[in-house]
Amino acid sequence: MATCGRLRLIEQGLKTAPFILIRRLASNTSFKAADLQYRFTRHPHAKPENPDECLFGKNFTDHMLAIKWDKDRGWSSPVIKPLENISLHPATSVFHYATELFEGMKAYRTVDNRIALFRPLENMKRMNRTATRACLPTFDEEELMKCIGELVRVDQEWVPYSTKASLYIRPTMIGTEPSLGVNISNSALLYCITCPVGPYFTTGTFNPVSLMADPRFVRAAKGGVGAYKLGSNYGPTIGIQEEALKRGCQQVLWLAGEDHKVTEVGTMNVFIYWINEQGEKELATMPLDEGIVLPGVTRSSLMELGRTWGEFKVVEKIITMNDVIKALNENRLLEMFGAGTACVVCPISRILYMEQDLSIPTMENGPDVASRFYQELTDIQYGRVSHEWSHTVVEDVEGVDAAKNTI
Ligand SMILES: Cc1ncc(COP(=O)(O)O)c(C=O)c1O
Repeated sequence: MATCGRLRLIEQGLKTAPFILIRRLASNTSFKAADLQYRFTRHPHAKPENPDECLFGKNFTDHMLAIKWDKDRGWSSPVIKPLENISLHPATSVFHYATELFEGMKAYRTVDNRIALFRPLENMKRMNRTATRACLPTFDEEELMKCIGELVRVDQEWVPYSTKASLYIRPTMIGTEPSLGVNISNSALLYCITCPVGPYFTTGTFNPVSLMADPRFVRAAKGGVGAYKLGSNYGPTIGIQEEALKRGCQQVLWLAGEDHKVTEVGTMNVFIYWINEQGEKELATMPLDEGIVLPGVTRSSLMELGRTWGEFKVVEKIITMNDVIKALNENRLLEMFGAGTACVVCPISRILYMEQDLSIPTMENGPDVASRFYQELTDIQYGRVSHEWSHTVVEDVEGVDAAKNTI
């Protein structure tokens, strides 16, 4: 009887199990914003008195988003909860093999009383590409975008009432399996924290930067992971940034290859605006095909904007330090600037390269193109002009719906 009973159970199990499995996989290949659960803080923190003076990444808002994943169950429901420490086993994958990736984006309080993100889906797509490369789980990009929108809505009072400051958003994913094998992590945690940040240019006008370009230091190489936003790309750059400071430069110009290709500036893409060898006005940036630069959201936005102006060529092409020096000597180099979420655009005034102190005439030339990009992008971000790149997450100042899915 017992055997028969067990057999029946196994038979029943065989009939139902595949369906259960299929249902589980189908429902958990992504979390859904509609399943969000909320736990609100009872101890809200004081907000910074002057957001325009907020240093980057020092003050955090009251809540965080957290979503767990494991190999068997897939994604669990997303939770918005008070910002809290994460407790992990000392053998956890992320501590040993840097199974970590992140994104960087911002929420802006617009002049028409909305809170908006700038092209957030682009960040979500890049996060998924990085997750695939890191063997961490992927998700539905629209759903994460909605969850992040909710987090911003919950902490909306932290979004600075200023058109100089913003709320920096840091989606992060880590491998959480407590195992020392250099293997795919069977569990992961996706979380998102946010912090108000002041203006990049504190004086209100561009402060051009000086760069150390030393080909002995490399950020990324062909075949490597420079095109992905993996934390492991950034840790090793800290010492080189310190070296730049010691040599009297503010940031690092990352060169690549024997021909010293100009690839990125610190954590920004780099643009050169010049008269090319054919005598045409041209805006150029490093192509993506070698996989050694990060495909920046600002980078693609500047290229698209530049193309709509139709006043100069916009190209992705390899530019070496020899090309820069030649253009300087022939008075063809007009502007050079970095581009990224942190600063939008950041003019370059000087490059220290192989014992040569190269003076870059960006500021002397206006900088016409850099300033116009800065103005147009910040106009979109702060809602001074309406544009499809602005993604509203809070229509109007409103109260948080505390009753919804509270745990
Ligand atoms: C290495 C690197 N390059 C470029 C960028 C600029 O990318 P985005 O414009 O998406 O901020 C970043 C930004 O975080 C970066 O870390």
